[in-house]
Amino acid sequence: MESSYIFAAKLAELKPGQTKKVCFPEHRPILLANVEGEIYAVDDTCTHEDSSLALGCLRADKVKCTLHGSWFSVITGEPSEEPADEALNCYPTKVENDAIWISLTAKI
Ligand code: FES
Repeated sequence: MESSYIFAAKLAELKPGQTKKVCFPEHRPILLANVEGEIYAVDDTCTHEDSSLALGCLRADKVKCTLHGSWFSVITGEPSEEPADEALNCYPTKVENDAIWISLTAKI
């Protein structure tokens, strides 16, 4: 295991089609998303205002912000609906030993 990856969640906690908010010391909250078995990680906080994307639903690779309705790709971080016009940061993930690991330093 590369040292830059840290434990984020057990894989069993994130079924396909689900998201999970995870927090780390001295870092903004992260949203994990399971898209058909692939795990993605983006910032949990909407780029429009400070709403948690964990409150929204995941459809395919897009998560909805419940406050004003923007959708974001959890793969690219890009918004596809206004009012948000700024992308979320994306973070590399890997699955090993039935766990999800994330790198908070290397953005995709
Ligand atoms: S806070 Fe997310 S779209 Fe406005």
